[in-house]
Amino acid sequence: MYKLAIVGATGLVGRTVLKILEEKGLPNFEYKLFCSKKSAGKKINFLGKEYTAYELKENSFDEKFDFAIFSAGGSTSAKFAPIAASKGCIVIDNSSTFRMDKDVPLIVPEVNPEAIFSHKGIIANPNCSTIQAVVALKPLDDNYKIKRIVYSTYQAVSGAGIFGIEDLLKQHSGNDLKKFPYQIYNNCLPHIDIFEKDGYTKEEYKMINETKKILGNENLSITATAVRVPVENCHCESINVEFKNDFQLEELINLLKNSPGIIVKDDLSKNIYPLPTEVNGRDEVFIGRIRRDYSQKNSLNLWVVSDNIRKGAATNAIQIMERLLEK
Ligand SMILES: NC(=O)c1ccc[n+]([C@@H]2O[C@H](COP(=O)([O-])OP(=O)(O)OC[C@H]3O[C@@H](n4cnc5c(N)ncnc54)[C@H](OP(=O)(O)O)[C@@H]3O)[C@@H](O)[C@H]2O)c1
Repeated sequence: MYKLAIVGATGLVGRTVLKILEEKGLPNFEYKLFCSKKSAGKKINFLGKEYTAYELKENSFDEKFDFAIFSAGGSTSAKFAPIAASKGCIVIDNSSTFRMDKDVPLIVPEVNPEAIFSHKGIIANPNCSTIQAVVALKPLDDNYKIKRIVYSTYQAVSGAGIFGIEDLLKQHSGNDLKKFPYQIYNNCLPHIDIFEKDGYTKEEYKMINETKKILGNENLSITATAVRVPVENCHCESINVEFKNDFQLEELINLLKNSPGIIVKDDLSKNIYPLPTEVNGRDEVFIGRIRRDYSQKNSLNLWVVSDNIRKGAATNAIQIMERLLEK
């Protein structure tokens, strides 16, 4: 029997972790759910039973866990993930705390599964925007060698957690806002996470640095602009990519069609391209609007859409645990 701790089980990502575990029905697993003091004692229906969510404490990992999926914010991970790991539990962490740590593998199972096994107790799940981008880019990098990437994101409010969704759905404005600095309803905010001194946001740097780490190439030239849009769920990305080698468009599209975790939806004669409303609830990365960029050599434009709570967080974390179990 394996024992899995779900930390942040009352949150948006944590609840989706529970949903996906129900869908998968993993054999030989038992579960314990954790949250903060605020929701402690809350009852959650999971796998046909009523579970209690317990307050996460320093001694929570004294009882032996095989795995823990953390989706409870950076400060919770910083404090509790090392405690869990020191007690023999393998932590899969959804926060950004450990992602750039040299000793922590940063994993997207379709892209760099071999790196999982170098872990020292903590494995990091990349940023949601990075995950869907690298799933799309990996087969292209393997075949045509990426030189430069320009990311422009259109990110759903669910990326900011439960309060992000509330801000959109209740159409809050002014003092009522819980998450965003401005009204998000009917708006686009070129501001995700905090601003760095050079004018980039931390979210943009996450995409830049995490892509380099996952694709294993520090020399990639990458720039990014991350924008929050009034969409409830599913991040969209326009990705412009320049390769060292030239490509045949048809061959490149076939390559994407045959790569793991990707669904190509690209039939302009029928107005078919990926949309958040259709991708919502799916685990794959959807790609469309695949076309050559004529403005420079060996360059391509892609439109990439994925469910940021599922593949961008919960699904990816569970896939990492499944890879560990395969071994
Ligand atoms: N949303 C996304 O698209 C996305 C994607 C990738 C990664 N992530 C990351 O996943 C994490 C969770 O995001 P979310 O969107 O699910 O946020 P959320 O909806 O705000 O949920 C936060 C969860 O963390 C729990 N929590 C907060 N402080 C805690 C503490 N001290 N000890 C134990 N549990 C605590 C909360 O419990 P209470 O109910 O008790 O407050 C709640 O269950 C964050 O690190 C986020 O960066 C999110």
